[in-house]
Amino acid sequence: MVNYKDLGLVNTREMFAKAVDGGYAIPAFNFNNMEQLQAIIKACAETKSPVILQVSSGARKYANQTLLRYMAEGAVEYAKELGWEHPQICLHLDHGDTFELCKSCVDFGFSSVMIDGSSLPYEENIALTKKVVEYAHQFDVTVEAELGVLAGVEDDVVAEESHYTKPEEVIDFATRTGCDSLAISIGTSHGAYKFKPEQCTRDPQTGKLVPPPLAFDVLAEIEKKLPGFPIVLHGSSSVPQEYVDIINTHGGNLPDAVGIPEDQLRKAAKSAVCKINIDSDSRLAFTAAVRKVFAEKPGEFDPRKYCGPARDEMTKLYKHKIIEVLGSDGKAE
Ligand code: G3H
Ligand code: 13P
Ligand code: ZN
Repeated sequence: MVNYKDLGLVNTREMFAKAVDGGYAIPAFNFNNMEQLQAIIKACAETKSPVILQVSSGARKYANQTLLRYMAEGAVEYAKELGWEHPQICLHLDHGDTFELCKSCVDFGFSSVMIDGSSLPYEENIALTKKVVEYAHQFDVTVEAELGVLAGVEDDVVAEESHYTKPEEVIDFATRTGCDSLAISIGTSHGAYKFKPEQCTRDPQTGKLVPPPLAFDVLAEIEKKLPGFPIVLHGSSSVPQEYVDIINTHGGNLPDAVGIPEDQLRKAAKSAVCKINIDSDSRLAFTAAVRKVFAEKPGEFDPRKYCGPARDEMTKLYKHKIIEVLGSDGKAE
């Protein structure tokens, strides 16, 4: 049994309470490799932003859960080396799908876990979430639950259609499960293709897709039912078109990739939304930078020469998100 407190990590309780009060959101960035983690920590150290490092099941398969946990432990020390005196870093399991997986993360030094029972019938979601909460809370590990279904790919779960969270269910769900935060569905979705072209309009000038707005009315109703309760948005990449263009003009093929406009995320961050999940944008930044090096320097074969620029591009992206979208800069001095 490893307790996250011995690793210098923190759970989400205090960071969420401050974010809800302060009208900003904590960045939840996924990581799968060293360059992503370095970029996240550098961006957060330079902006003094609290951060949630997320480990998905895809990341666990790719990089190994043990290694990722030691990397997060190393990240706390790296943050201090960069001059961040009091790093506020949470290590979080993203989209946990079983009690056993959540338990193994709690036992192994994670400070927060998500149990995603959103694809289960309501009562089964409650029962599973409650079981995880009862276990995790014994070790002061916080638990995120999900109600409502996001369209798109959630690790191994593929949902064809989204179902907005029903505001009339949230009080019952939060009370009976005891969860610490709730991921809701208001129109975001995972990946770089968040909307089908037929759901969007087109900008006549650029020909780019303009996505439909998020369901802020549903968010407002949820906030009214659960005042001050931490709300989470998954699938919140904005799919920056400059990266899509670099990828497409350097040998890639991402037709009609579209995300959530940043002004909508900014608006959400000012409300009870206090955790915003971003993964795809980092993948796009990485890929754009690597493709550019490959196109411009075909003789390059030292991975540091293309992973280095990719890391710089991701650092720039994370800082932009922190300062211009989430407003979490300066909140972990
Ligand atoms: O929620 C989905 C995340 O973007 C993680 O995806 O399982 O491919 O790492 P992944
Ligand atoms: P994106 O695919 O929009 O980056 O969402 C990531 C996410 O929700 C991870 O849980
Ligand atoms: Zn997600």
